[in-house]
Amino acid sequence: MKKLIILSGAGMSAESGILTFRDMGGLWEQYNIEEVASPIAWQRDPQLVLDFYNQRRKQLMEVEPNEGHLALVKLEHKYDVQIITQNVDNLHERAGSSTVLHLHGELMKVRSENNESLVHEMDHWELMLGDKADDGHQLRPHIVWFGEAVPMIEVAIPLVQEADIIIIVGTSMQVYPAASLISYSKPDAQLYYIDPNADAFNYPNLKCINQKASKGLTELVKML
Ligand code: APR
Repeated sequence: MKKLIILSGAGMSAESGILTFRDMGGLWEQYNIEEVASPIAWQRDPQLVLDFYNQRRKQLMEVEPNEGHLALVKLEHKYDVQIITQNVDNLHERAGSSTVLHLHGELMKVRSENNESLVHEMDHWELMLGDKADDGHQLRPHIVWFGEAVPMIEVAIPLVQEADIIIIVGTSMQVYPAASLISYSKPDAQLYYIDPNADAFNYPNLKCINQKASKGLTELVKML
């Protein structure tokens, strides 16, 4: 089976009702990254950070995967599919995708602030100050904050290097190292970029599809 990689970003979940980060009215227009998504923010005001992620976790439990997520599941019948997502939501998994790698962490997971391997899956949305991990330390969001390492990039690079087809969908390609992944594609890989603003990104031999994820992926999956 040919290997097919999906590189997805926040635009993948936009039609499920989840705000992107850098679009008009996006999350970073409403919140200051330095106040809610960095280790310094966590030290300075952990309650504000917890509230930011609690609100996003609460919303995630109220939304559903969209047609784009469901279209990707269909690819698994024909291809060896690996999703590599910058998203921290679990909509790819809830749609039925079986191989999802989260570069920036997972919203429904939390971990000891003292031991990043002590990870715990949440079944409710609210994480409180005083909620402790098994090691007795405060639980924090299992999210890669700005300024923190992206350990999963080392797993993602070889997957991209082996891919025959790569579909980039719903990402502004502004955040590294995630945005560098496409540069590891092999010369004869077929590259697609689905995004309403796709043509703003002129990567050599990249087929730009100026569509939203649900329509763009539904049509591309039919073609592949
Ligand atoms: N379908 C497809 N793409 C869409 C849609 C849609 N319905 N709506 C918006 N988009 C596109 C936008 O045009 C934009 O290119 O999704 C992209 C969203 O870009 P960002 O908001 O920058 O999100 P992303 O690229 O995922 O951000 C990367 O930055 O803040 C960090 O850790 C955070 O993982 C995130 C990373």
